[in-house]
Amino acid sequence: MSQDAFRLLNPDGKEMDLPVRSGTIGPDVIDIARLYREQGVFTYDPGYVSTGSCASEITFIDGEKGVLMYRGYPVEQLAAHSSFLEVSYLLLHGNLPTASELEGFDRTIRTHTMLNEGMLNFFKGFRYDAHPMAMLSAVVGSMSAYYHDSLDASNPEHRDIFAHRILAKLPTIAAAAYKLNKGQPFIYPRNDLSYCENMLQMFFAVPAEPYEIDEVAAEALDLLFILHADHEQNCSTSTVRMAGSSGANPYSAIAAGIAALWGPAHGGANEAVLEMLEEIGDASQIGKYVKKAIDKNDPFRLMGFGHRVYKNFDPRATIIRDMCHKLLAKLGRQDTPIFDLALELEQVALKDDYFIEKNLYPNVDFYSGIIYRALGIPTSMFTVMFALGRSVGWAAHWREMIADPKGRISRPRQLYLGPEQRDYVPIEKR
Ligand code: CMC
Repeated sequence: MSQDAFRLLNPDGKEMDLPVRSGTIGPDVIDIARLYREQGVFTYDPGYVSTGSCASEITFIDGEKGVLMYRGYPVEQLAAHSSFLEVSYLLLHGNLPTASELEGFDRTIRTHTMLNEGMLNFFKGFRYDAHPMAMLSAVVGSMSAYYHDSLDASNPEHRDIFAHRILAKLPTIAAAAYKLNKGQPFIYPRNDLSYCENMLQMFFAVPAEPYEIDEVAAEALDLLFILHADHEQNCSTSTVRMAGSSGANPYSAIAAGIAALWGPAHGGANEAVLEMLEEIGDASQIGKYVKKAIDKNDPFRLMGFGHRVYKNFDPRATIIRDMCHKLLAKLGRQDTPIFDLALELEQVALKDDYFIEKNLYPNVDFYSGIIYRALGIPTSMFTVMFALGRSVGWAAHWREMIADPKGRISRPRQLYLGPEQRDYVPIEKR
């Protein structure tokens, strides 16, 4: 139940009323901003398990009920009826576009797809086998060196141009990284194609022969991007906000977000899931790997399982699992050993007491890699695909943060456990 204040009784018996703030939906928050000034103590919450870092109007998650909404719209409805570009407009501007707004937005994104030609030189400097996430983060960071004509964060028009450039150019950068790994020539974007069609042609076309776009593949990508588009204050989005809070340019903030996404506990999990399924090999080995995941002396975890917020199920995983069935059937794949293994592993884990007790369910990363693989995208590109979908969420959060008149630099405090003051000892006396 909502209340106005949360009463704190300190060890001296002094009381302090901390204001309680209510959101539109979701739990109330206790505003502790005055705590240090008035009581001389900090709060301690490693991993921010109980800490809200900002107020936001973009995305809402109810982890107990498995609810995810962008600007109030349930992700299931958007997945069924919308497109990635429409969802991008929604996330950036707060409302669904009218037909002419969507047409204008689509046109703008299509006409920002090319990179400054000089940026392509970066790819000549990377090793042929460089991880595409390393290239993505580095090249996005370099965008501020090319597009400094519009880096004034206080100018709303510049903030729009930044969002358009990030959304439009990330697929081109990702495709260049993919082509470098493949040893194939870079393919330029085509503005007559839709967002996902263009991406497929930049990835898979070669100059030597015509390339036919598979509409089923384009639709599957579009849906995956909708599901990855935003997820409130996750690790990479919080990183974008934190880096941007210092006034750093937004391309640097997005590059920092990409670096954070790469970790296996976050977006890197989709790559780790496929590697894990390959290591498990066949259904007879599932029991052994589930035991390893439960064993506290074994660092192995079931990748693609568990979530900080979802304690029931991840609605995105349910949609992606259904889509796996449909896509593999549409692509005419009868032999789907990795998907079958994933389904079997899910069943075994969901019946296991450890996973039940700890509320560990498949998350968004458990099935997404199976779709990317069916589309011919290599495992090392999976987290890049996540980044492409999430880029609009990062841009929306950066814009919200920078436009907030009460915005301050993010600067948490700590519980210091190091040595107390001691005197310097000259080297010959140590
Ligand atoms: N396999 C086995 N045990 C697990 C797993 C797992 N996948 N996930 C959590 N646990 C256990 C964990 O050992 C801990 O046990 P205990 O209470 O006995 O110490 C308990 O469940 C709670 O886990 P936690 O690590 O404290 O929870 P967290 O909220 O800090 O971490 C997580 C969430 C997603 C990082 C974690 O569940 C995990 O490492 N999962 C595997 C990696 C993964 O799939 N990541 C993708 C997340 S979804 C997409 C995204 O965010 O990018």
